Amino acid sequence: MAGSIRKAVFPAAGLGTRFLPATKAQPKEMLVLVDKPVIQYGVEEAVQSGVENIVIVTGRGKNAIEDHFDVALELESFLEQRGKTAQLEEIRNITRLIKVAYVRQGEPLGLGHAVLVAREFCQQEPFAVILGDDVIDANPPALKQMIDVYDKVQGPVIAVERVPESEVSNYGIVAVEPAPEFGARVHRITDLVEKPSRGEAPSNLAIIGRYILTPDIFPALEATASDKTGEIQLTNGLRRLLRDRPIYACEIDGVRHDTGNKLGFLKAVVYFALKRHDLAEPFRDYLKSLRLV
Ligand code: G1P
Repeated sequence: MAGSIRKAVFPAAGLGTRFLPATKAQPKEMLVLVDKPVIQYGVEEAVQSGVENIVIVTGRGKNAIEDHFDVALELESFLEQRGKTAQLEEIRNITRLIKVAYVRQGEPLGLGHAVLVAREFCQQEPFAVILGDDVIDANPPALKQMIDVYDKVQGPVIAVERVPESEVSNYGIVAVEPAPEFGARVHRITDLVEKPSRGEAPSNLAIIGRYILTPDIFPALEATASDKTGEIQLTNGLRRLLRDRPIYACEIDGVRHDTGNKLGFLKAVVYFALKRHDLAEPFRDYLKSLRLV
């Protein structure tokens, strides 16, 4: 039986200025954690959560993402001739993972706008939004945990995590009340604020990059004004939607890495390298040999 969430949207039109010069000629979604581009971690999570179709919202200079999920005939026949079957399987699996569609955002008008651009793809179904920068190592996968909550609440579900107070201004922050009838990690949202200052934040529960949304987010986003940076924020669209229906927050059981900043990216590389059977031992030895003061 098909799961309740079959579609996922991957906003990927950002310019990646935090990683310049690496992102001058390469999309930030293709930066590599050990040997896999960041976006592939999110796509694999979607697949493992039962998603069947994804749409990647791209912009100029993002062709490498399309090439990555496309068949690479020359490379395949080269690997076949050389008898490199393991690598051949690996790259074939990327193409077989899932059906991928692409839509262009045109102008960088914010996350809410990126979701609006995916409206035709989503049609009248509930759908997931995955921000690839947030790489979450979890079992069951983060999105699967959220789908299980969605099946109970039958309404929008947003992934959240407690963050230190010094970091609230980097995130959308939610105010909540308990919703124990839906599970210990589930809360009912009472307010949402995008990137509040420390004093304005209603809590330290931060939105991390996973959402399950219902089609009524689209008219809510259309009715949402741009903020002072000229962007339509998804958080503000959700705040508007909250007037009409309950929205839930779910604390994920897992380890999240914010690979969208350099320190978070470096930590993620170390974390995933230490999880690899072929690398863990020599890499741990190397780390131990560093004389850190
Ligand atoms: C976006 C959202 C923010 C959320 C964050 C999670 O911000 O606008 O609400 O907390 O993703 O990563 P961005 O990181 O794109 O600035």
